[in-house]
Amino acid sequence: MENTSPAIQYFADPGLWLLSTANTAYLFGRSANGRVQHLYWGEKITDAQDVSAFGLIAEGDPVGDYDVIAVQLQRKGLVPVDEYPAWGGFFYQEPCLKATFAGGVRDSHLVYSRHEVKTTSDGLPLLVVTLKETLYPLEVDLYYKVVPELDLLERWSVVRNTGQERIELEAALSAGWHLPNRVQGQYRLTHLTGRWNTECQVRHDLLPDGKTTLESRRAITSAEMNPFFALDWWDADSGGAGEESGEVWFGALGWSGSWKITLERSADPERVYIAGGVQDFEFRWQLGAGEEFTTPPFTAGFTANGFGQASRNLHRYQLDYLLPRSHARKLRPVIYNSWEVYFFDFNEEKQFELADRAARLGVELFVIDDGWYGRRWSDRVSLGDWFVSPEKFPNGLGPLIKRVNELGMNFGLWVEPESVNADSDLYRAHPDWVYNFPRRPRNEVRKAMMLNLARPEVATYIFDCLDKLLSQNNISYIKWDFNRPITEPGWPDAPLEHQREIYVRHVTALYEVVDRLRAKYPAVAWEACSSGGARLDLGMIRHFDQVWPSDNTDPFDRLFIQEGYSFAYAPKTMVNWVTESNGSHSINNQALNLRYRFHSAMTGTLGVGEDLHRYTPEYEAEVAAYIREYKAIRPIVQEGDLYRLISPRRGSLAALEYVKPDRSEAVVFVYRHTEHYWFSAARVRLCGLDPARSYRVEGLRREIVVSGQSLMSLGLLPELSGHFASALIKLTAL
Ligand code: DGJ
Repeated sequence: MENTSPAIQYFADPGLWLLSTANTAYLFGRSANGRVQHLYWGEKITDAQDVSAFGLIAEGDPVGDYDVIAVQLQRKGLVPVDEYPAWGGFFYQEPCLKATFAGGVRDSHLVYSRHEVKTTSDGLPLLVVTLKETLYPLEVDLYYKVVPELDLLERWSVVRNTGQERIELEAALSAGWHLPNRVQGQYRLTHLTGRWNTECQVRHDLLPDGKTTLESRRAITSAEMNPFFALDWWDADSGGAGEESGEVWFGALGWSGSWKITLERSADPERVYIAGGVQDFEFRWQLGAGEEFTTPPFTAGFTANGFGQASRNLHRYQLDYLLPRSHARKLRPVIYNSWEVYFFDFNEEKQFELADRAARLGVELFVIDDGWYGRRWSDRVSLGDWFVSPEKFPNGLGPLIKRVNELGMNFGLWVEPESVNADSDLYRAHPDWVYNFPRRPRNEVRKAMMLNLARPEVATYIFDCLDKLLSQNNISYIKWDFNRPITEPGWPDAPLEHQREIYVRHVTALYEVVDRLRAKYPAVAWEACSSGGARLDLGMIRHFDQVWPSDNTDPFDRLFIQEGYSFAYAPKTMVNWVTESNGSHSINNQALNLRYRFHSAMTGTLGVGEDLHRYTPEYEAEVAAYIREYKAIRPIVQEGDLYRLISPRRGSLAALEYVKPDRSEAVVFVYRHTEHYWFSAARVRLCGLDPARSYRVEGLRREIVVSGQSLMSLGLLPELSGHFASALIKLTAL
């Protein structure tokens, strides 16, 4: 055995890689014919010798005799599939790679070439296994970044043309994942679905035979489906994994454009193969001599401790590795944003008044949303014209920002840089800058079209506009919106063969512009938004500090949206506003009490979006008190471990718990949305506490001191009566 790192071991004879994390093992190997094949992913293999002892790999198979190897491996109860399957030979499932070589050959045979173990800049072990085509000048580097303490693997691949003639890629996915073969049960898929105002709805479905595809073809991540999956083993006796128990394999893709995750099941024994990456519908990539195509990362993990642990591992990964480092450890400020109050109808005077009132509440970041620029009195004009409206702000933004800063708050601004209205100076000057097909109408949404960011001059224009705004004004935060999917993805000036690179180039250009701006203005924080939560993914979380999950701010609906969000994404990144009970979006038309609204919004990064002019002194004092309370618990909510104690999908009660990593403090939110049939009291059992310590419990009718053990077994009794009642309970270890 070549012992290269405790997390990455290579057994030269017979040629196996064992990736080990704290609790999991991932095993793949190369057969004598050079095929690199997946073998196992799941609970830890404690004795590395076992790997060789089992004689896991097929020997002496001729190249191309795939069936022979498959049968041999199947007899050993293993998954006989290529680690990164390419389309060719007898492979009929979803290929990770589909390439066309010179002369029109469209079938690929990838075999082992070499491998290397490195350490990433963030100190993580990295394995790179290079495959090469048996006849044509193509190489694929398979990257495996191991996050040992979080039981995660971050995988991506780089496809390289090492020859002189062009190679066309029809599919180049990030990774293929193979689940262990099982019998007497069925894999069950958990995923997030939705639409505008209804994002991140959790669904559990038994995986049917054949192929299930989760995808977006809209050039954005989409509200309809989110690039996250979890699979657990379901059988009639156990009912599958729960929040804190059971085996779960899960993953999320770091890509903010069109994407695809396919899950293919065949039964008896149950076999599941997952492939994911950039969407191959409307994708063709020309790989010129010496060029590379790098796929986005696809991060996945395994846990034996249920969906809750899967989420906590993904959350910690975002906090510790993924979120932009400049802000990752900073607590997110309390926001005020008047979008839902005024929409486009505001001016400097109104914002001055709001700023005074927001400061009194304890707001830390005062934001002006859509409407501050050009002639923007409605959503039909001025997108693209990023100059301050002379009508609304005759003196520029300077005086308002000065006032906001004097009041002790930072100032933030909304932009939607990738869109343009037909009625704008930008479109009049550059009608060719939008995606379009000649002789076809240019579809509009909110009278907006999409700028073609694949054009370098468009990316430069966007960078320059933002650069100017940020250099001339003391702006601490940008909310970057995107309000429509791309249609007619044509670029008439570009060579025909490059036309279908647009969906990828757009996203890459977006990341590049934001990264350049971040480098130049490191103090600025960035929020991603897309008509609510249509651009929520690990790609955005790598480049942005926080995300707007939904335009639906109804506090009860939000419990469901926020729950789904938390399956994959960290609470710190999730922005929640307290808005008018009967807010301007009039969702559900229900007036809920302030306490419930705050308790719903306090579970991530808090904001307020109410009409502050309507506040009475008493109401203002109440709001200020909630904001003070939020600030006191903010480190636990934003950086703690989340336990979803009771899902809102289960009944009339929901509960969430956030525990500080050292288990010295915790907060519990309990929500009761209905009381009927004289609902008897229900105890809520906590998780993640230190059983040996005593905790002071505040927020019940009277303060008590109880052991962690009892809080986790006997549980708490939150006395909530009536509809839409809620409690915030604080625990401090003594
Ligand atoms: C959609 C966003 O989700 C809202 O928060 C708001 O910023 C509007 N766009 C502005 O047009």
